[in-house]
Amino acid sequence: MEASEKATAGAFQLPRVPRWRSLLRSFALAKDPLPVLDATLAHFGDTVQLYIGGVEKSILTRDPGLTQHILQKNNRNYAKSKFTQGFSRYIGHGLLTNDGPDWLRQRRLIQPGFHRQRVAGLTGLMQEITAETLAPLVARARQAGGATAVEVHELMTRLTFRIIARSVFSTNFPEAELDRLARLITEIQAFFVRTIRQPYLNPWFRLRGRFRYHDALAAELRALLGRLIAERQQANAQPGATPPDDLLQMLLDVRYEDTGEPMTPDRVLDEALILLVAGHETSANALTWLTYLLAHHPAEAVAIRAQADAVLAGRAPAFDDLPRLGQALWAVQETMRHYPPAWMVDRVALADDEYQGLRIPKGTLFSLYFHGLHHDAKYWDAPEEFRPRRFAPGQARPVQPFAYVPFGGGPRLCIGMQFALTEMQLVTLELLRLFEIEWVAGQPPATMQPLVTLRPKGDFQVRLRLRHLSS
Ligand code: HEM
Repeated sequence: MEASEKATAGAFQLPRVPRWRSLLRSFALAKDPLPVLDATLAHFGDTVQLYIGGVEKSILTRDPGLTQHILQKNNRNYAKSKFTQGFSRYIGHGLLTNDGPDWLRQRRLIQPGFHRQRVAGLTGLMQEITAETLAPLVARARQAGGATAVEVHELMTRLTFRIIARSVFSTNFPEAELDRLARLITEIQAFFVRTIRQPYLNPWFRLRGRFRYHDALAAELRALLGRLIAERQQANAQPGATPPDDLLQMLLDVRYEDTGEPMTPDRVLDEALILLVAGHETSANALTWLTYLLAHHPAEAVAIRAQADAVLAGRAPAFDDLPRLGQALWAVQETMRHYPPAWMVDRVALADDEYQGLRIPKGTLFSLYFHGLHHDAKYWDAPEEFRPRRFAPGQARPVQPFAYVPFGGGPRLCIGMQFALTEMQLVTLELLRLFEIEWVAGQPPATMQPLVTLRPKGDFQVRLRLRHLSS
């Protein structure tokens, strides 16, 4: 390392990528961030100071200890950065974008609503929607003599959006409104990412009225959800009404411990919206990558199916069966190690802090690089290989805390973790019960596109071949 690239920060020598070098790399970074970040860390070490886009000073880390310090041990000193907060302009102040005492109050209120029994109660719905979504593919495959090709990311996005939307608003959800809702969220999110990634375009966006246009979409989104919530409240007010046991009802029923009051309608809306936003793209990406990996590792698909056949003998799995269907869960976990949907998470220091001699001044911006942690050979044997058995109990090399953080960690651990794991395990089992998954030859290999979440660049196809023509 060049002497000029070292900076003294307290007693700890923090490697520093000079601004000119960050700037030079910012173009490559914008185009394809992961190789640039990996090469930087391979060269400088697990924690390095650099300038995002050549402008914003930030500390990039794939050190599990520092990650744990920020997310868990001294979490009170770290808030979401202005990037995440900017998103609240469009989607409000639900758990994901909220911070500080208000966040804690909301988290304490909502957390119990995600208990195991509720997720268990949603299992039937998840299965029903999976079956409904895959049914046209079964029909298409049968018509075509046993197999049909499908765009995987498109399929998984549709499936997971339906699952979360109906888990929140189980009733009164016409198809057209569901599609409109999905489109509004996708469009708003895509625009927000552009304003962060390419801030120099913002004056142009302003001039062209793009901010106003997307504010109007966000208003439409809130109006649509507001109507659904009002309808639910009217239905609940009818004599003899039995409200459904879904996530919206949970949000309407919870009461603050200190006041005994329910959330205001606006807050219910914020939290419902955040569940829709946070609760589908991540699972869709994980399932997309899982399908990709299974198409390339048919022996893993065989192992999942063999276990499912032995445990279930052809019936659909119940929530209580899932612990005995570990093969599918390990494949999901290994997929998220390989392709963590939340590939990078950011935080900002609220006050001066120190970690093992590293002085952290107030305002320091951190990029916690989960993808880097998940691929570090110090913690993983052959990190580039797809080996679901790493997650089987009793492995010689157990998973080290905070070297594996697909759902984050500490008090802001993903509130939907149990929901997502259950959903992904069920979808995997159903997909493999119905189909063999084959890679469609002639396509380029899928490559990663790290936006807010880690998705494939474009889409890719697999061929789904019916296991039984009569399925
Ligand atoms: C594979 C699927 C998923 C992954 C990988 C994932 C990942 C994450 C991560 C890493 C965080 C923490 C972000 C941070 O610390 O800055 C998070 C937070 C969150 N997730 Fe998930 N998530 C998934 C599915 C879901 C689902 C299905 C829901 C809703 C049902 C959900 C709702 C949330 C919410 C509300 C938060 C904010 C929690 C808080 O700050 O209190 N997520 N998720």
